[in-house]
Amino acid sequence: MPEESVRPLERGLAVLRALAAADRARAGDLVRATGLARSTVDRVVATLARLGYVRESGQELQLTPRLMELGNAYLAASGLTGEVAARTARLADELDESVSLAVPDGDGVRFVTQAARRRAMSVAFRIGDLLPAERCAPGALFAAEWDEAGWAAWHARVAADPDGHAFPALPPGPAPRVPDLADRTAHSRAAGWALDDQLIEPGLIATAVPVRDATGRTRYALSAVSHTSRHTAQGLAELVLPRLREEAAQLEALPTAPSPYEEGELTPDQAPDAADAKAELGPGFLRSLARGLAVLRALGRARGGGLPLTAIAEATGLPRATARRCLHTLELEGYAAHDGRLYRPLPRILELGYPRLSRLGFAEIAEPHLRELTGRVHQSASVTVLDGADILYVARAATVRVMSVYITLGTRFPAYPTAMGRVLLAGLPKPDRIRLLKAEPPTALTRHTVTDPAELHRVLDRAAADGYATADEELEEGLRSVAVPLKGADGRVVAALNVAQHAGTAPLGETIDALLPALRETAAAIETDLHTAARFNAVRMP
Ligand code: PHB
Repeated sequence: MPEESVRPLERGLAVLRALAAADRARAGDLVRATGLARSTVDRVVATLARLGYVRESGQELQLTPRLMELGNAYLAASGLTGEVAARTARLADELDESVSLAVPDGDGVRFVTQAARRRAMSVAFRIGDLLPAERCAPGALFAAEWDEAGWAAWHARVAADPDGHAFPALPPGPAPRVPDLADRTAHSRAAGWALDDQLIEPGLIATAVPVRDATGRTRYALSAVSHTSRHTAQGLAELVLPRLREEAAQLEALPTAPSPYEEGELTPDQAPDAADAKAELGPGFLRSLARGLAVLRALGRARGGGLPLTAIAEATGLPRATARRCLHTLELEGYAAHDGRLYRPLPRILELGYPRLSRLGFAEIAEPHLRELTGRVHQSASVTVLDGADILYVARAATVRVMSVYITLGTRFPAYPTAMGRVLLAGLPKPDRIRLLKAEPPTALTRHTVTDPAELHRVLDRAAADGYATADEELEEGLRSVAVPLKGADGRVVAALNVAQHAGTAPLGETIDALLPALRETAAAIETDLHTAARFNAVRMP
């Protein structure tokens, strides 16, 4: 009997693809894009929202950074360790050019690592972006391994879509005239490297070399990317090839990371308990969609060859038959494959929102959470970072009130008399904190400002110990603020979150009790998104 696919999983994936393509959409747009009934779309969306993958803001639906955990499953399984990322970043520094790793995905090339240079004119591709093979350097390397069916699929696609409309990462407009892919592929095979001389757009050039797996197949293309204002295409190749080749050899020699499965460290899945969600949403919760996505996440534990069904059933807590049907559906959709008894995730998973979500900067990740916090406490909320001895506002959600705290993005205040400044200073190594406070000795801005260095250090030590700080009319008469730190995955304080309000007549302790739980929950939600987004991707910090 042929295996049956899991319908709610198929539908959920279709909705995720439609949302990924649209950025923001209303339920009606999703009905049109997927051809599903409105009631089905509503149940899929309710389920995805419960799983934290979709956010409803007003009538509009949007994907959340949390969805990147699906793409992260593929990236983790593909062996992109911190060591690989660190190596490409170092190479980019050394060459002073952007460096990327890409993998073959059908007749396309999918980026899995980007170490970009910050230049006015810099490469805009991000992790998850897909390019057609004929329009980039890695394509000629990957096409060298296509069989007849691979070439036939490519010919059919180019005939159907010569300008590459199916590739949102390409610049809009007609394709430039590009050299024949078969010729470029033959040349690359003989030379052992490939060139992109403005195949994507005028000015953009790249050189790529293959990084092979133990069987000799091309696993990644390692590229250096530049611009004709800096080099000619040939000039770039001469300059970077020796180092690219050396680096490719190093990457080939890296040991594959052990599988968390083989290591026996099966961390439990973090997803909300399907039974709870079912009880809460009743028929509005599609349990088999939740289960299918849990299976997809579980594939992130695969290393090398993949995971056996038993391991996937164990990781998800699903019966083997259920897990197998989910895997079968994921295979039909192009997100998983199996060799013998081992299952592994495929790069196409990255099409589920990763390119757009990996472009979000830190402020954009924080903003929806700030709006939620403001809605909850009816006071303005902000995020700042430390810039020298100042705090700098990078994200904010304001309330509409007659009397509210008026601050815009880009505003600066000295750190020492503010709650956010205090959690930021408290997060610094002691010598840095001492140096900053010495460089600009505190002055009294109100009657209440703490200016005595010894007392200020005590205030900061307490902030570090308590995990929050306050400032009560120390920056400005009448203004009170409570702040908590935002930490990166390494535990370092990267920003501060606060709620500010009129000091009023309530004792400070009451304000702390009223605000701290909401501040801490919001900080945890921002950190979860930040850590998911930053696992394989350099999130733009302000
Ligand atoms: C890139 O990393 O952005 C890149 C790589 C190879 C190309 C073009 C762009 O051919």
